[in-house]
Amino acid sequence: MAATVPAPPGPRVRAVLRRRSYRSFRPDPLPAETIRALRDVAASAPSVEGRRSGRVVVLDDPEVARRMPRAVTAGLVGKINPWLLRSNPPLFLVVAGDSRSGLRDGDRHWYNVDGAVAGQLAVLEATGRGAGSCWMAGFHERSVAEAAGLGEGERPLAVIPVGHPAVGPESGGSWLGRGWDAAAQRILSARRKPLERIAHRGRFGVPFIAGEVPWAARGVAGDDDAAWPGLGPLRPAAGFSGEPVDESRLAVLLECARWAPSAENSQIARHVVVEGRAVAGALLAAAFPDAPIETEQLPPLVIVCLAAPFPIRARTREQPFFLIDVPIAVANLLVAAADLGLGWQVAFRFEHHAVAGALGVPDDHRVVALVALGIPARAPAAGPRSPLDQLRPAG
Ligand SMILES: Cc1cc2nc3c(=O)[nH]c(=O)nc-3n(C[C@H](O)[C@H](O)[C@H](O)COP(=O)(O)O)c2cc1C
Repeated sequence: MAATVPAPPGPRVRAVLRRRSYRSFRPDPLPAETIRALRDVAASAPSVEGRRSGRVVVLDDPEVARRMPRAVTAGLVGKINPWLLRSNPPLFLVVAGDSRSGLRDGDRHWYNVDGAVAGQLAVLEATGRGAGSCWMAGFHERSVAEAAGLGEGERPLAVIPVGHPAVGPESGGSWLGRGWDAAAQRILSARRKPLERIAHRGRFGVPFIAGEVPWAARGVAGDDDAAWPGLGPLRPAAGFSGEPVDESRLAVLLECARWAPSAENSQIARHVVVEGRAVAGALLAAAFPDAPIETEQLPPLVIVCLAAPFPIRARTREQPFFLIDVPIAVANLLVAAADLGLGWQVAFRFEHHAVAGALGVPDDHRVVALVALGIPARAPAAGPRSPLDQLRPAG
């Protein structure tokens, strides 16, 4: 049996669990090193088939940062975020996708996935460096595209202000933002669904009852005093050893998915845990009927990530929340994996209905991703690249 995960957890897991949305910022600028790190993360984020159909633009020009709140709140939708007009963040991330020539299958525009993963990686890098942020899907599209200088055919799908969080009356932040934060954290964020409601073992509907990971279940509060090593480049594993992933690692992974931000705190992401090479093999045969996976390429663990229905379904028709919120939770899994000594491969393009059928997923849920995890193999498996290995660096 593999060794269990020690508590307290590593810095990346702590950042995942500590992150909360902040809507009020101190007036001071972010250190140049933080801005550089955000650019690096945005530039090196993996994407579906390495195509970079979606990306994160880092906007630290003070003039652009000054104009962005008006651009966001122009029009009707942006009016849901009046706090931004007062919160003065020194930097904005704009998550954007190539609507014209980005990779897509039918109505699934994969730029949503690329943007969601890159955006969440940048958010976690900011968290690790003590900066706060807030994903925002409520904004005026044309004004934001213009203010961010997006290219022809590119559409923004989220705006993320970043700055040092202003907490407490002496912090210099706006009362509106601080009040909004306090209310949102108490009313929305604190009401996280319990793990057994969002995670299932083996088959949809069988609650995943985790062993004790008390520090993870509460989230992690307060400043991080540990030195932040940086997220580092997020790269898929070349293959997996057959060694099983122990329960404590699994519980930490699922807690990390559970603390992902989601629009309206809807927490639509669900996770079905499929354990053992043989069981994973049967599922993957259904997922990839035309591309059988060699036995030695099979992972010992697959977390199948789904979306539950929610009344607010999409930002725009092309930008459904199931293709944004679920990949954000996937990004949390991948960042946590690095701290847990696990490698990963992720697929988004496969036979979604066959996987749903095999796991008993109800018709109103959507299967989104297959996240394969395991101890990385020492040497890459022979043969062609696994069909699971779709979230890749560019090039
Ligand atoms: C895709 C997406 C869109 C969001 N849009 C907004 C928004 O427009 N305004 C806002 O104040 N918060 C927005 N949020 C933040 C959520 O309300 C927040 O993540 C959720 O309440 C959970 O709280 P936490 O992030 O503090 O854990 C958004 C989050 C996501 C992931």
